[in-house]
Amino acid sequence: MEFTQKFAEYKKIADESIAKFLPRPQPGFEVLAEAMEYALLGGGKRIRPVLLLAVCDMCGGDLNLAGPAAAAIEMVHAYSLVHDDLPAMDNDDFRRGRPTVHKVYGEDIAILAGDALLTRAFEVAAGIPNAEIAAKASLWLAQGAGCEGMVAGQVIDLQSEGKSGITYEHLRQMDLFKTGALIRTAGKLGGLAADASETQFKFIDQYCSALGLAFQIQDDILDVTGSEEFGKPIGSDAENGKATYVSVLGLEKAKDLTRQLTDTAVKALQQLPNGEFLKELALLLLHRKQ
Ligand code: IPE
Ligand code: IPE
Ligand code: MG
Ligand code: MG
Ligand code: MG
Repeated sequence: MEFTQKFAEYKKIADESIAKFLPRPQPGFEVLAEAMEYALLGGGKRIRPVLLLAVCDMCGGDLNLAGPAAAAIEMVHAYSLVHDDLPAMDNDDFRRGRPTVHKVYGEDIAILAGDALLTRAFEVAAGIPNAEIAAKASLWLAQGAGCEGMVAGQVIDLQSEGKSGITYEHLRQMDLFKTGALIRTAGKLGGLAADASETQFKFIDQYCSALGLAFQIQDDILDVTGSEEFGKPIGSDAENGKATYVSVLGLEKAKDLTRQLTDTAVKALQQLPNGEFLKELALLLLHRKQ
């Protein structure tokens, strides 16, 4: 099947699973479900759940079993963006071409909607109808999202604001955590649902590590060169004095690095059968404008 068609198929599975696990509005606190839905259903690319499902598929797994994990990882991602946009963090008013959650619902509800999305993700992961997979998925999700994963990366990001002398190695560490950790988790959860072998896990992780870094560098590049299509405020990083690949290495070196990392990701796949979709995914992300 052609790449675009396959991507649409995985995205559909992810969207259906997300819709299934979204909370229904409850009398007295309807606004919470509304804000969670706003954060989740607003034109996100669904890269993490698509990656998770594609890895599961590549390893010969059952996509139905991977559906809840796909929803859970997107919920963690959506929460991370809601909090990332808050005035106390990146202070951004636009995402996916529309006002950010705190702009629509206020900071208080945005914080709580983020909390509820994160908690819901673990409710969904713990409910995977295979006890062993559910336990491992919950553990790996916590490790990828938490104090030795994405949250740690966000702390490094915020503490690096306005600092001079940030090195390439510092940036690499920051992005391996803040963006790489969740992308690696997506790969691991896909492998888990398919009962992947140690060798498969090893090369999937190599692919995801390189892909995660390339993805963040491309995001940094688009923060400078992007157009309306990007859906986020252009120049936000510079305004916040963020340490990015563009601010540290310059645009051309940053572009070179995304190409090199994409190449590394693709090479890791050569060790595995049926890696065609993931190869094309890496190339799509390299050329993305959104
Ligand atoms: C944005 O992630 C945050 C980064 C890690 C760069 P995405 O670019 O995947 O965001 P959506 O979900 O598609 O909007
Ligand atoms: C944040 O990176 C990544 C997260 C863990 C949320 P950015 O701050 O660059 O993400 P955007 O550009 O706001 O989406
Ligand atoms: Mg940020
Ligand atoms: Mg941000
Ligand atoms: Mg960014």
